[in-house]
Amino acid sequence: MKPARRPDRPHFSSGPCAKRPGWSPDVLAGATVGRAHLSAAGQAKIAEAARRMRAVLAIPETHRIAIVPGSDTGAVEMALWSLLGARGIDVLTWESFGARWTSDIVEHLGIADARVFEAPYGELPDLAQVDCGRDIVFTWNGTTSGVCVPDAAWIAADRAGLTICDATSAVFAVDLPWDKLDVATWSWQKVLGGEAAHGTIALGPRAVERLRTHTPPWPVPRLFRLAERGQINQAVFAGQTINTPSLLCIEDAIDALKWAEEMGGLPVLIARSRANLAAIADWVAATPWIEFLAANESIRSSTSICLRLTEPAFAALAPEEQRGFVKRMAALLEGEGVAYDIVAHRHAPPGLRLWGGATVETQDTAALLPWIEWAYAHVRGEAQAS
Ligand SMILES: Cc1ncc(COP(=O)(O)O)c(C=O)c1O
Repeated sequence: MKPARRPDRPHFSSGPCAKRPGWSPDVLAGATVGRAHLSAAGQAKIAEAARRMRAVLAIPETHRIAIVPGSDTGAVEMALWSLLGARGIDVLTWESFGARWTSDIVEHLGIADARVFEAPYGELPDLAQVDCGRDIVFTWNGTTSGVCVPDAAWIAADRAGLTICDATSAVFAVDLPWDKLDVATWSWQKVLGGEAAHGTIALGPRAVERLRTHTPPWPVPRLFRLAERGQINQAVFAGQTINTPSLLCIEDAIDALKWAEEMGGLPVLIARSRANLAAIADWVAATPWIEFLAANESIRSSTSICLRLTEPAFAALAPEEQRGFVKRMAALLEGEGVAYDIVAHRHAPPGLRLWGGATVETQDTAALLPWIEWAYAHVRGEAQAS
C-alpha cells in the first residue's frame, strides 16, 4: 500500500540542496543584474552577503571573509595552493572529499611530508594521532559517509600549524569553533539551499600571517591567488572578487540568509537539522532492515544522513546489484514525486543518503520515511520474484 501522505517538497538532495521553504524565483527580483560587480550597487550586494554570513555564523572580526570562484572546491584548493608547503601536513580522510584533498596534497602538490590518516566509510580516523605542530587539513562533515568530527577538542588552542577545514556541509548546521579554524570553506548550495558556483573562505589571523610570510614553492593560479609577494589581496576581502561573480547567485544567498535570520539564526538552523536527524533516527530504530552508515552516534551527521540496508539477502548481493537495488528504490520514489536524489554517493557503500539540512522541513522528512518502506518492500518483492 502506498502511504497516504506525501512530502510537500521531495527535495532531499545533498547538493544543490532544497531551497528554503517559501522560495520562488521572485526573490531574485532585486538582483543587480546587468550591473558591473565593481559598481557601488554590485559591491553593496557582495558586502551584504558577506556581512550577513558573518552575522548568522557568528564569525569573529578576527576572521576575514571572501567570496571566491569555484564553489567549495575552489575555496579549499585556494587554501591548499596558497598556504601549504611551510611545514609538514596531517591530512584526515574518511570519505571521498577527504580523498580529493589528500590527492591534491600528495599527488598534485607533491608534498612529501604529508601524513595521511584514513578511515573507512562510516568511521573517523583516530583524531588523537594528529600533531598540531603540523598543518592539518580535514573535512568537518564527510558528506558521502555521513560522518562528522564530534568537536574540535583535538585541535590545540596553542597549535603551531594551521587548520584548514572544508566545512561545506557543516556550516549553518553546526556551531563551528572559529578560534580552532584558521581556514574554513563552504558553498551556498548546501545548508542554505542557495545557488552554486561561488565558494566562501574565512581566514583567521594565523592564516593571514602565513599568507604574508610564506611564498609557496609551486605556481599559484590567478583564481587561487590570495597574496602576491607577501602582499595580501586586500580587495578580495572587501568584496572585490577575484573574477566576475553571478549577482543572481549573490542575491539568492542574501535571500537565504534573510530567511535564516527571520527563522531565529544559527540555533534554529541547527535545531531544524537535528530534528531531521532525530526523525530518521527514530525510524531507523524501529525498522529492522536499515541502519546508519555511521554506527557511532557521536560522529553522525545531521545534514548528510547516510543509511545502509542490512538484510542478509541484500548483503549477499554483489556491490553492483546492491547499487541497482537502491537505484530502483530511488527511481520508484522519484516516479511517485516523493523523493529526489537519495541514492548514496557513487564512491560510498550502496545505500541511501537523505539531506537533513535546515531548509528541509521535518514534516517532509517524516512523510518520506513510510515511502522508503514502500519502495523497499516493492523492490524486495521484485528481487524475490526474479
Ligand atoms: C564535504 C564537501 N566538500 C566539497 C564539496 C564540493 O563542493 P562544491 O561542489 O561546492 O565545490 C562537497 C559537495 O558535496 C562536499 O560535500
